Amino acid sequence: MRMEYLFVLILAACNVGARRVVDLTHTFDKNAPKYPLDFLGYDSDTFTYFNMTILADQFFGDMWLGIRQVEFYEHQGTHIDAPNHFGSGRQAMDEIPPERLIGEGVVIDVRDKVKQNPDYAVSVQDIKDHESKYGKIPPGAIVCMNSGWADKYPDPVLVFGSNDLKNVSTFHFPGFSLDACKMLLNERQVGVVGVDTPSTDPGQADGYYCHMYLQPNQVPLLEYVANLDSVPARGTTMVLGAMKMRDGTGGPTRIFAFMDDMDGDGTNTANMYSSSVLSTVCSLMIASYITSFMHF
Ligand SMILES: *[C@@H]1O[C@H](CO)[C@@H](O)[C@H](O)[C@H]1NC(C)=O
Ligand SMILES: *[C@@H]1O[C@H](CO)[C@@H](O)[C@H](O)[C@H]1NC(C)=O
Ligand SMILES: [Zn+2]
Repeated sequence: MRMEYLFVLILAACNVGARRVVDLTHTFDKNAPKYPLDFLGYDSDTFTYFNMTILADQFFGDMWLGIRQVEFYEHQGTHIDAPNHFGSGRQAMDEIPPERLIGEGVVIDVRDKVKQNPDYAVSVQDIKDHESKYGKIPPGAIVCMNSGWADKYPDPVLVFGSNDLKNVSTFHFPGFSLDACKMLLNERQVGVVGVDTPSTDPGQADGYYCHMYLQPNQVPLLEYVANLDSVPARGTTMVLGAMKMRDGTGGPTRIFAFMDDMDGDGTNTANMYSSSVLSTVCSLMIASYITSFMHF
Protein backbone atom coordinates (compact mmCIF):
# COMPACT_ATOMS: atom_id res chain seq x y z
CA MET A 1 0.00 0.00 0.00
CA ARG A 2 1.29 3.48 -0.82
CA MET A 3 2.09 5.58 2.25
CA GLU A 4 -0.25 8.39 1.11
CA TYR A 5 -3.21 6.02 1.32
CA LEU A 6 -2.15 4.88 4.76
CA PHE A 7 -2.01 8.49 5.90
CA VAL A 8 -5.54 9.16 4.59
CA LEU A 9 -6.77 6.04 6.41
CA ILE A 10 -5.19 7.16 9.68
CA LEU A 11 -6.75 10.61 9.32
CA ALA A 12 -10.17 9.08 8.59
CA ALA A 13 -9.92 6.84 11.66
CA CYS A 14 -8.99 9.87 13.79
CA ASN A 15 -11.95 11.83 12.46
CA VAL A 16 -14.39 9.06 13.47
CA GLY A 17 -12.81 8.96 16.92
CA ALA A 18 -13.25 12.70 17.37
CA ARG A 19 -17.00 12.60 16.69
CA ARG A 20 -18.96 12.25 19.91
CA VAL A 21 -21.97 9.94 20.07
CA VAL A 22 -24.81 10.31 22.57
CA ASP A 23 -27.13 7.35 23.11
CA LEU A 24 -30.78 8.49 23.27
CA THR A 25 -32.09 5.03 24.18
CA HIS A 26 -33.49 3.50 27.38
CA THR A 27 -32.39 -0.09 27.89
CA PHE A 28 -35.23 -2.36 26.73
CA ASP A 29 -36.40 -5.04 29.16
CA LYS A 30 -39.52 -6.44 30.84
CA ASN A 31 -39.92 -3.27 32.94
CA ALA A 32 -40.81 -1.06 29.94
CA PRO A 33 -44.10 0.80 30.69
CA LYS A 34 -47.13 -0.85 29.04
CA TYR A 35 -49.68 1.37 27.32
CA PRO A 36 -53.09 -0.28 27.87
CA LEU A 37 -55.51 -0.93 25.00
CA ASP A 38 -58.39 -2.04 27.21
CA PHE A 39 -60.45 1.02 26.13
CA LEU A 40 -60.53 -0.53 22.63
CA GLY A 41 -61.90 -3.80 23.97
CA TYR A 42 -58.57 -5.66 24.34
CA ASP A 43 -57.48 -7.39 27.52
CA SER A 44 -53.95 -6.02 27.91
CA ASP A 45 -53.25 -8.69 30.55
CA THR A 46 -53.24 -11.32 27.78
CA PHE A 47 -50.51 -9.56 25.74
CA THR A 48 -46.94 -10.88 25.83
CA TYR A 49 -45.06 -7.63 26.38
CA PHE A 50 -41.64 -9.19 26.85
CA ASN A 51 -40.62 -12.82 27.11
CA MET A 52 -36.97 -13.72 26.83
CA THR A 53 -36.02 -17.39 27.01
CA ILE A 54 -32.46 -18.62 27.31
CA LEU A 55 -31.82 -21.20 24.60
CA ALA A 56 -28.11 -21.43 25.32
CA ASP A 57 -25.77 -19.99 27.92
CA GLN A 58 -23.04 -22.55 28.17
CA PHE A 59 -19.76 -23.97 26.98
CA PHE A 60 -19.75 -26.71 24.34
CA GLY A 61 -16.24 -27.96 24.97
CA ASP A 62 -14.18 -24.77 24.73
CA MET A 63 -16.79 -22.95 22.63
CA TRP A 64 -19.06 -20.53 24.50
CA LEU A 65 -22.57 -20.09 23.10
CA GLY A 66 -25.22 -17.62 24.24
CA ILE A 67 -28.58 -17.48 22.41
CA ARG A 68 -31.96 -16.01 23.45
CA GLN A 69 -35.43 -16.34 22.03
CA VAL A 70 -37.43 -13.16 22.49
CA GLU A 71 -41.07 -12.27 22.02
CA PHE A 72 -42.09 -8.66 22.57
CA TYR A 73 -44.84 -6.12 21.93
CA GLU A 74 -43.65 -3.56 19.36
CA HIS A 75 -44.64 -0.30 21.02
CA GLN A 76 -42.60 -0.24 24.20
CA GLY A 77 -39.47 1.39 25.52
CA THR A 78 -37.54 3.76 23.26
CA HIS A 79 -39.26 2.90 19.99
CA ILE A 80 -40.36 4.05 16.58
CA ASP A 81 -43.91 4.07 15.24
CA ALA A 82 -43.77 3.09 11.56
CA PRO A 83 -46.25 5.08 9.42
CA ASN A 84 -48.54 1.99 9.19
CA HIS A 85 -49.15 2.21 12.97
CA PHE A 86 -51.74 4.99 12.51
CA GLY A 87 -51.70 5.27 8.71
CA SER A 88 -53.70 2.62 6.89
CA GLY A 89 -51.66 1.19 3.98
CA ARG A 90 -48.64 3.35 4.84
CA GLN A 91 -45.00 2.25 5.19
CA ALA A 92 -44.19 -0.72 7.44
CA MET A 93 -40.89 -1.02 9.32
CA ASP A 94 -39.16 -2.60 6.30
CA GLU A 95 -40.48 0.08 3.96
CA ILE A 96 -39.26 3.21 5.77
CA PRO A 97 -36.64 4.73 3.43
CA PRO A 98 -33.17 4.97 5.06
CA GLU A 99 -33.06 8.72 4.30
CA ARG A 100 -35.98 9.10 6.72
CA LEU A 101 -34.01 7.42 9.52
CA ILE A 102 -31.14 9.93 9.42
CA GLY A 103 -31.69 13.64 9.94
CA GLU A 104 -30.63 16.81 11.64
CA GLY A 105 -31.57 16.63 15.32
CA VAL A 106 -33.75 19.41 16.75
CA VAL A 107 -34.49 19.41 20.49
CA ILE A 108 -37.31 21.62 21.78
CA ASP A 109 -36.87 22.12 25.53
CA VAL A 110 -40.17 22.65 27.36
CA ARG A 111 -39.00 21.41 30.75
CA ASP A 112 -39.90 24.63 32.58
CA LYS A 113 -43.43 24.75 31.13
CA VAL A 114 -44.00 21.07 31.94
CA LYS A 115 -43.04 21.67 35.59
CA GLN A 116 -46.08 23.97 35.86
CA ASN A 117 -48.34 21.76 33.75
CA PRO A 118 -47.83 18.01 33.13
CA ASP A 119 -50.48 18.15 30.39
CA TYR A 120 -48.43 20.68 28.41
CA ALA A 121 -48.64 20.52 24.60
CA VAL A 122 -45.75 21.96 22.53
CA SER A 123 -47.24 24.92 20.65
CA VAL A 124 -46.56 26.69 17.35
CA GLN A 125 -45.18 29.56 19.46
CA ASP A 126 -42.68 27.18 21.11
CA ILE A 127 -41.42 26.20 17.65
CA LYS A 128 -41.20 29.88 16.56
CA ASP A 129 -39.32 30.79 19.76
CA HIS A 130 -36.93 27.89 19.16
CA GLU A 131 -36.32 29.05 15.60
CA SER A 132 -35.70 32.66 16.56
CA LYS A 133 -32.98 31.43 18.93
CA TYR A 134 -31.44 28.58 16.90
CA GLY A 135 -32.55 29.08 13.29
CA LYS A 136 -35.19 27.65 11.00
CA ILE A 137 -35.87 23.90 11.27
CA PRO A 138 -34.55 22.33 8.04
CA PRO A 139 -36.55 19.84 5.94
CA GLY A 140 -36.17 16.22 7.00
CA ALA A 141 -35.27 17.09 10.61
CA ILE A 142 -35.84 14.73 13.52
CA VAL A 143 -37.67 17.04 15.94
CA CYS A 144 -37.84 15.91 19.59
CA MET A 145 -39.59 17.37 22.61
CA ASN A 146 -37.50 17.38 25.78
CA SER A 147 -40.01 17.61 28.62
CA GLY A 148 -37.72 16.16 31.29
CA TRP A 149 -39.92 13.05 31.34
CA ALA A 150 -37.09 10.59 30.69
CA ASP A 151 -36.11 10.81 34.39
CA LYS A 152 -39.39 9.08 35.31
CA TYR A 153 -38.68 6.03 33.13
CA PRO A 154 -39.58 3.16 33.65
CA ASP A 155 -41.88 3.73 36.69
CA PRO A 156 -45.36 3.44 35.06
CA VAL A 157 -47.13 5.53 37.73
CA LEU A 158 -44.74 8.43 37.06
CA VAL A 159 -44.49 7.90 33.28
CA PHE A 160 -48.28 7.80 32.77
CA GLY A 161 -48.91 10.34 35.55
CA SER A 162 -51.63 8.14 37.04
CA ASN A 163 -52.30 5.40 39.56
CA ASP A 164 -54.93 3.85 37.31
CA LEU A 165 -52.70 2.14 34.73
CA LYS A 166 -55.66 0.55 32.88
CA ASN A 167 -57.60 3.78 32.22
CA VAL A 168 -55.97 6.07 29.62
CA SER A 169 -58.40 8.90 30.50
CA THR A 170 -56.55 9.33 33.79
CA PHE A 171 -53.13 9.75 32.14
CA HIS A 172 -51.13 12.96 32.48
CA PHE A 173 -47.99 13.53 30.41
CA PRO A 174 -46.94 16.19 27.89
CA GLY A 175 -46.74 15.97 24.08
CA PHE A 176 -47.27 18.05 20.92
CA SER A 177 -50.33 20.13 19.99
CA LEU A 178 -52.11 19.39 16.72
CA ASP A 179 -51.24 22.86 15.39
CA ALA A 180 -47.54 22.25 16.11
CA CYS A 181 -47.70 18.92 14.24
CA LYS A 182 -49.45 20.60 11.30
CA MET A 183 -46.80 23.34 11.18
CA LEU A 184 -43.93 20.84 11.39
CA LEU A 185 -45.33 18.80 8.51
CA ASN A 186 -46.70 21.48 6.19
CA GLU A 187 -44.29 24.34 6.74
CA ARG A 188 -41.10 22.53 7.78
CA GLN A 189 -41.36 19.15 5.97
CA VAL A 190 -40.41 17.39 9.19
CA GLY A 191 -38.85 13.92 8.84
CA VAL A 192 -39.67 12.40 12.22
CA VAL A 193 -41.37 13.72 15.39
CA GLY A 194 -40.20 12.40 18.78
CA VAL A 195 -41.07 12.72 22.46
CA ASP A 196 -39.57 11.57 25.76
CA THR A 197 -43.09 10.58 26.94
CA PRO A 198 -45.33 7.57 26.05
CA SER A 199 -46.98 9.39 23.11
CA THR A 200 -46.64 12.37 20.78
CA ASP A 201 -50.20 13.16 21.87
CA PRO A 202 -50.42 14.41 25.48
CA GLY A 203 -52.08 12.06 27.99
CA GLN A 204 -55.13 14.32 28.25
CA ALA A 205 -55.43 14.89 24.49
CA ASP A 206 -58.79 14.31 22.90
CA GLY A 207 -57.79 11.30 20.78
CA TYR A 208 -54.51 10.65 19.00
CA TYR A 209 -54.51 13.70 16.75
CA CYS A 210 -50.74 13.89 16.09
CA HIS A 211 -50.58 10.19 15.20
CA MET A 212 -53.67 10.55 13.01
CA TYR A 213 -52.36 13.66 11.27
CA LEU A 214 -48.71 12.73 10.75
CA GLN A 215 -48.71 8.98 10.12
CA PRO A 216 -51.03 8.95 7.05
CA ASN A 217 -48.41 11.39 5.66
CA GLN A 218 -45.65 8.75 6.15
CA VAL A 219 -44.10 10.44 9.20
CA PRO A 220 -42.61 7.96 11.71
CA LEU A 221 -42.80 8.91 15.40
CA LEU A 222 -40.43 8.28 18.31
CA GLU A 223 -41.58 7.65 21.86
CA TYR A 224 -39.69 7.39 25.18
CA VAL A 225 -36.59 9.08 23.72
CA ALA A 226 -33.93 9.16 26.47
CA ASN A 227 -31.09 11.47 27.42
CA LEU A 228 -32.18 14.57 25.47
CA ASP A 229 -30.61 16.72 28.22
CA SER A 230 -27.25 15.61 26.83
CA VAL A 231 -27.66 16.97 23.31
CA PRO A 232 -27.83 20.61 22.13
CA ALA A 233 -30.90 22.17 20.49
CA ARG A 234 -29.24 22.01 17.06
CA GLY A 235 -26.02 20.79 15.50
CA THR A 236 -26.46 17.01 15.83
CA THR A 237 -27.19 14.31 13.31
CA MET A 238 -29.67 11.78 14.64
CA VAL A 239 -29.64 8.20 13.41
CA LEU A 240 -32.50 5.80 14.09
CA GLY A 241 -31.51 2.14 14.27
CA ALA A 242 -34.97 0.78 13.50
CA MET A 243 -35.31 -2.95 12.89
CA LYS A 244 -36.11 -3.85 9.26
CA MET A 245 -39.00 -6.12 10.23
CA ARG A 246 -41.32 -7.09 7.37
CA ASP A 247 -44.82 -5.71 7.98
CA GLY A 248 -43.83 -4.40 11.45
CA THR A 249 -45.71 -1.36 12.80
CA GLY A 250 -42.96 -0.26 15.17
CA GLY A 251 -40.25 -1.52 17.45
CA PRO A 252 -37.49 -0.83 19.93
CA THR A 253 -35.02 1.52 18.27
CA ARG A 254 -31.46 2.50 19.15
CA ILE A 255 -31.26 6.27 18.70
CA PHE A 256 -27.87 7.93 18.23
CA ALA A 257 -27.08 11.63 18.20
CA PHE A 258 -23.77 12.42 16.52
CA MET A 259 -22.33 15.63 17.87
CA ASP A 260 -20.71 17.24 14.87
CA ASP A 261 -19.87 20.29 16.97
CA MET A 262 -17.28 19.38 19.61
CA ASP A 263 -18.10 22.62 21.47
CA GLY A 264 -21.74 21.61 21.92
CA ASP A 265 -23.21 21.93 25.39
CA GLY A 266 -23.92 18.21 25.78
CA THR A 267 -22.31 16.13 28.47
CA ASN A 268 -21.26 12.53 28.10
CA THR A 269 -18.03 12.16 29.95
CA ALA A 270 -17.55 8.47 29.13
CA ASN A 271 -17.56 9.20 25.41
CA MET A 272 -15.53 12.36 25.81
CA TYR A 273 -12.93 10.36 27.67
CA SER A 274 -12.77 7.68 24.99
CA SER A 275 -12.56 10.26 22.22
CA SER A 276 -9.73 12.10 24.00
CA VAL A 277 -7.85 8.80 24.36
CA LEU A 278 -8.50 8.15 20.68
CA SER A 279 -7.27 11.60 19.62
CA THR A 280 -4.10 11.07 21.63
CA VAL A 281 -3.53 7.73 19.93
CA CYS A 282 -4.27 9.32 16.57
CA SER A 283 -1.87 12.21 17.20
CA LEU A 284 0.86 9.72 18.12
CA MET A 285 0.17 7.72 14.96
CA ILE A 286 0.34 10.82 12.77
CA ALA A 287 3.50 12.02 14.51
CA SER A 288 5.23 8.65 14.09
CA TYR A 289 4.11 8.51 10.46
CA ILE A 290 5.58 11.95 9.74
CA THR A 291 8.82 11.25 11.60
CA SER A 292 9.22 8.01 9.60
CA PHE A 293 9.93 10.28 6.60
CA MET A 294 12.51 12.40 8.40
CA HIS A 295 16.09 11.44 8.01
CA PHE A 296 18.49 13.12 10.39
C1 LIG B 1 -42.19 -17.50 27.14
O1 LIG B 1 -41.64 -18.25 26.06
C2 LIG B 1 -41.44 -19.61 26.37
C3 LIG B 1 -40.71 -20.25 25.17
O2 LIG B 1 -41.47 -20.12 24.02
C4 LIG B 1 -42.77 -20.27 26.66
O3 LIG B 1 -42.55 -21.61 27.03
C5 LIG B 1 -43.44 -19.53 27.81
O4 LIG B 1 -44.73 -20.05 28.02
C6 LIG B 1 -43.56 -18.06 27.52
N1 LIG B 1 -44.05 -17.36 28.66
C7 LIG B 1 -44.98 -16.45 28.58
C8 LIG B 1 -45.37 -15.80 29.86
O5 LIG B 1 -45.52 -16.14 27.52
C1 LIG C 1 -61.61 6.36 33.49
O1 LIG C 1 -61.26 7.60 34.06
C2 LIG C 1 -62.16 8.65 33.74
C3 LIG C 1 -61.52 9.94 34.25
O2 LIG C 1 -61.20 9.83 35.61
C4 LIG C 1 -63.50 8.34 34.35
O3 LIG C 1 -64.41 9.36 34.03
C5 LIG C 1 -63.99 7.01 33.80
O4 LIG C 1 -65.20 6.64 34.45
C6 LIG C 1 -62.96 5.91 34.01
N1 LIG C 1 -63.39 4.72 33.30
C7 LIG C 1 -63.38 3.54 33.88
C8 LIG C 1 -63.80 2.39 33.02
O5 LIG C 1 -63.05 3.37 35.04
ZN1 LIG D 1 -45.64 3.47 19.46
